[in-house]
Amino acid sequence: MDRRNFLGNVGKGALAIAAMPSMRALGANDRIRIGLIGAGDRGQQDLEEALRQPNIELVAVADTYTRRCDQVKAKVPGVATYDDPMRLLERKDVDAVINATPMHLHSKYFIAALQAGKDIYSEKTMTWNIPQTVQCQKAAKASKQVIQIGVQHVSSGGLVDAKDWIAKGYLGKVTMVESWISRNTPRGHGQWVRPIPDDCNLEHVNWKLFLDGRPEPKFDANKYINWRLWWKFSGGNVTENMVHQNSWITSALGLELPIAASMSGGVFSEQDGREVPDTFNVTLEYPGMIVVWQSVFSNSHFGLGERILGSHGSVESLNFGPSNFVPEKANNPGVDAMQGTAKGVNHMANWFDCIRSRSQATNAPIEVGYRSAIAGHMANLAYRRKQRVTLEEAMAAPGSDWL
Ligand SMILES: NC(=O)c1ccc[n+]([C@@H]2O[C@H](COP(=O)([O-])OP(=O)(O)OC[C@H]3O[C@@H](n4cnc5c(N)ncnc54)[C@H](O)[C@@H]3O)[C@@H](O)[C@H]2O)c1
Repeated sequence: MDRRNFLGNVGKGALAIAAMPSMRALGANDRIRIGLIGAGDRGQQDLEEALRQPNIELVAVADTYTRRCDQVKAKVPGVATYDDPMRLLERKDVDAVINATPMHLHSKYFIAALQAGKDIYSEKTMTWNIPQTVQCQKAAKASKQVIQIGVQHVSSGGLVDAKDWIAKGYLGKVTMVESWISRNTPRGHGQWVRPIPDDCNLEHVNWKLFLDGRPEPKFDANKYINWRLWWKFSGGNVTENMVHQNSWITSALGLELPIAASMSGGVFSEQDGREVPDTFNVTLEYPGMIVVWQSVFSNSHFGLGERILGSHGSVESLNFGPSNFVPEKANNPGVDAMQGTAKGVNHMANWFDCIRSRSQATNAPIEVGYRSAIAGHMANLAYRRKQRVTLEEAMAAPGSDWL
């Protein structure tokens, strides 16, 4: 595979799978047969969530590490196992797939699944760069499959209340959104760093399928397990966490794409060989408004939150809990503060409900995946270029700019 192909385009293997829609009409009592692609930490959590829902059967799992397939087999005896997800996607008895591979592989299996006629729950961030994001959107538009992106906080009750108050005009003119995530770890142990199991070697890992064409001189178990720390595979905390909060904020306010992005900071918490920064500020410019997001990895005191600041009131949501509304006395003298009461829904259950009704209007459809991915990739591009990047500049950037 040439450089351009893996950086900007889905691999040829994906295109080789003929479209074979598995759009059986499913009633509430019909079983949905799923496949799991990428059965690591998150994939196994997603699987457990899926199997807690009624009438769901796991038919097959594909993971490039035998340990992961064995773990799933221990939970679901009789499940078919593969190292190559393309083999799973060839199966006609799989209706829908969960894609929880490392981020650089998301778009490859996202597009291949749609082309194979499978509904898909695809973990965030939807893609690794902007050209892939455009390709995924194109594939989704050409498809009738049901897509849910794994930004589960858009299914929270806090978002229902925030949207309602904003739609009713309670906030007045919104010019600024503050948002942040703050985490900490024992000194000497960087955020995200996982131990490497003894069997993580070429006997048990399909390294070539993991790399998907990315140049690497030799097998590196640390990169395989801790892929989040390198640009080649990850977008750092922007694509790990900012996308969750950006999806929530843009859904609340009805925002589309940023018109420009800036990002500054660095690797300040632990110098453990990682490339992606831990401590930084992102500023996303939207028409008439900025949305700032802050990442800290050596202090967790203030947790995670969003504050939408309007001339007539503010909405605050902490740790994706209920939203609160606080009026601005200057413009809203007679109004009291309110606490949200809306109930959220289970994000996985929402996907299955939409599969049964063949509705593409999931809580996190392609539009949410697209705009959160573009915002994240713009921020990282600005950081890498050390300059403010406009939407036009970002959309014109080649895939290799994210390497
Ligand atoms: N929605 C959320 O709240 C949430 C939380 C955590 C992680 N995630 C996302 O889930 C994804 C997975 O994260 P993780 O922590 O589980 O990582 P992980 O490394 O634990 O799991 C990835 C799995 O994919 C496998 N894999 C690698 N290349 C593959 C290939 N070509 N085909 C099939 N399998 C392959 C690996 O062996 C591993 O088991 C990431 O994109 C991450 O951002 C989402």
